[in-house]
Amino acid sequence: MLLVIESTCDETAAALIDERLVVRGSSVATQDALHQRFGGVVPEIASRAHVERILPVIDECLRKAEASLPDVSAVAVANTPGLAGSLLVGVAAAKSLALALGVPLVAINHIHAHVYACRVASREDVFPCVGFVVSGGHSTLFDCASPLDFRVLGGTIDDAAGEAFDKTASLLGLSYPGGPAIEKVARSGDPKAFRFPRTFIHEDRLEFSFSGLKTAVRYAIAPQGSEVVPPPADSQLLADLAASFQQAVIDVLLAKVELALRRTGRDVLCVGGGVAANGAFREQLTVGMRRRGTRLHIAPRELCTDNAVMGAIAWERLRAGLVESLELDVVPGLER
Ligand code: KG4
Ligand code: ZN
Repeated sequence: MLLVIESTCDETAAALIDERLVVRGSSVATQDALHQRFGGVVPEIASRAHVERILPVIDECLRKAEASLPDVSAVAVANTPGLAGSLLVGVAAAKSLALALGVPLVAINHIHAHVYACRVASREDVFPCVGFVVSGGHSTLFDCASPLDFRVLGGTIDDAAGEAFDKTASLLGLSYPGGPAIEKVARSGDPKAFRFPRTFIHEDRLEFSFSGLKTAVRYAIAPQGSEVVPPPADSQLLADLAASFQQAVIDVLLAKVELALRRTGRDVLCVGGGVAANGAFREQLTVGMRRRGTRLHIAPRELCTDNAVMGAIAWERLRAGLVESLELDVVPGLER
């Protein structure tokens, strides 16, 4: 069985997965509470928390699977992209285990794994497809010819979609992580109350930019030039701002999905990443894909945010003989 370790950002996770992609055990320790008062992930705090949690998380995963270390036939770890200090903890743990157990070490691209969550959950062959990862660190569209052949079609030139949710939530006085907080408040708001910018929406380019949207929300709260931006006190105003912001993000995401499908001619779409947990996005995407006759896979909510189950993509690499030496290093930056 494959033991997967995930520590790219602020979730420490492990999963035990068999060769038929059946999940035997999975464990996730989130650090949301540690980063909440800073309104975002503090890298130093994240890496220290990973050090404390990694072994208990692996233990818990094995316990849930009613398995023990001798059952592990390969160890996989996400070594890119992510926070350097966070990645190091997972990679060091994975190397140590692979060495001690005398089993192969496999490297995982965390972003590709977000797409693969759809393969694990659907239990269907989803490739070839367009893969779309909308998370805290990435808004990236891929042309995925196979699980081992991902080509970047486009991504964000500034904030990722989840980052925009987090920063806007902070402006609105809502808690971290911002996505779930905005989604909740937006339910009682009018998405048409504010006409926020939808950058690049009509342009023939597969790029995203969300920094202007965040700034537009700021100016809707406090006039230009004011240094302090007090969160809106009126609850209906707050709900209208949240709903209008959320709809602006969704409109752009849907438009670029449409363009990516048209450009590639693919008829399957796989969506993952934390923002794909958003109910309004899921609903509107489902309607849109049904209308155009595209087969849609959205990862189940618990596999949208970071987890180790999606690291089952390592089975594909292992089968192709793509194993790593103990020299495996972390690659924090985004591949393009
Ligand atoms: O995939 P993920 O757990 O971590 C990264 O790889 O970045 O994504 C976390 C991001 C955060 O920015 C969070 O605010 C956003 O996903 N998120 C959501 C929702 N749940 C999480 N955004 C919108 N709506 C949600 N329900
Ligand atoms: Zn992620």
